[in-house]
Amino acid sequence: MTDKLIIFDTTLRDGEQSPGASMTRDEKLRIARQLERLRVDVIEAGFPASSNGDFEAVQTIANAIKDSTICGLSRANDRDIARAAEALKGASSARIHTFIATSPLHMEKKLRMTPEQVLEQAIQAVRFARNLIGDIEFSAEDGSRSDPDFLCRVIEAVIAEGATTINVPDTVGYAVPELYGNFIKNLRERVPNSDKAIWSVHCHNDLGMAVANSLAGVKIGGARQVECTINGLGERAGNCSLEEVVMAVKTRRDYYGLDVGIDTRHILAASRMVSQTTGFVVQPNKAVVGANAFAHASGIHQDGVLKARDTYEIMRAEDVGWAANKIVLGKLSGRNAFKQRLQELGVSLESEGEVNAAFARFKELADRKSEIFDEDILALVHSEKAVD
Ligand code: KIV
Ligand code: ZN
Repeated sequence: MTDKLIIFDTTLRDGEQSPGASMTRDEKLRIARQLERLRVDVIEAGFPASSNGDFEAVQTIANAIKDSTICGLSRANDRDIARAAEALKGASSARIHTFIATSPLHMEKKLRMTPEQVLEQAIQAVRFARNLIGDIEFSAEDGSRSDPDFLCRVIEAVIAEGATTINVPDTVGYAVPELYGNFIKNLRERVPNSDKAIWSVHCHNDLGMAVANSLAGVKIGGARQVECTINGLGERAGNCSLEEVVMAVKTRRDYYGLDVGIDTRHILAASRMVSQTTGFVVQPNKAVVGANAFAHASGIHQDGVLKARDTYEIMRAEDVGWAANKIVLGKLSGRNAFKQRLQELGVSLESEGEVNAAFARFKELADRKSEIFDEDILALVHSEKAVD
């Protein structure tokens, strides 16, 4: 089994399905270029049959991006698949991603099809797609709520038709980590030709477990592709967040033992670009890319970080694109952090007594003001000097 984890980004497809996050062709191209800079393995650029605009966006991205595989989504029918293949013609590496729902609920209520009809349609779709492009991903929509016996039959059949990636989505974010991980493991063990395809996870965040479920799918289930989006953008509560899953696998390489090809230094820029383009604000305490992700406010933590960063930092801010970590001065800060900031501001106080006096006034101010800025410190020190 490969020890590389494939990162499949679907910001431009599933991310765009987030209400209010629709993007123009040029905006999508800009983001695709940033995803290429990030060294994302597969960029799902859109759903070409859904509109002429999306067709053009996928076509433009396929023509422009050379270092990532470009993928187009299609339902499991010839028209959608042909449209996706047409949009992907200019790509140096192209993938068709075709899907059909396999859960009893979706088959009966949404598709109004019998399981046998769904199986037949999945087979036909992959067969048709395989004649157009070599790299075919098949997704069993609502996979996590599907009957495993039926899912095994569908997956075995589509692999036999030439599907090269098998994705088992948790479409409605219903899964829990151990169950989802074991679900994938069980499918992989039961499908006789399972090793002919890469297994993939695609998790939604309705219960806030998209990243945890994806990681369980990798660790327990043996999936080697994760589908994710920048900032976790996506339908309803969103998708698995790229920055979180990538940094989890990198930071805990001791546990996951997998390589990820992402150039993490471009993560923050990607996050900001997606946020500015869609108008979706990133919460300050969001892991990796939130404004507070590398900020230290308490005196004890500040003192620790100033002595050795890894006391309270498990990742380097610089490794994900921040200029540096941040020591936030406020009422919880200690003398050590205050002194360090004075040094950074080029202020040298002559005696420890002067430092103590300035620190006491800083604490007084901090009780009245939630965050102390550099200007406050300079004013505080200079007013002290003027009094002298
Ligand atoms: O959530 C889902 O099931 C999907 C499929 C189209 C892969 O987005
Ligand atoms: Zn999805």
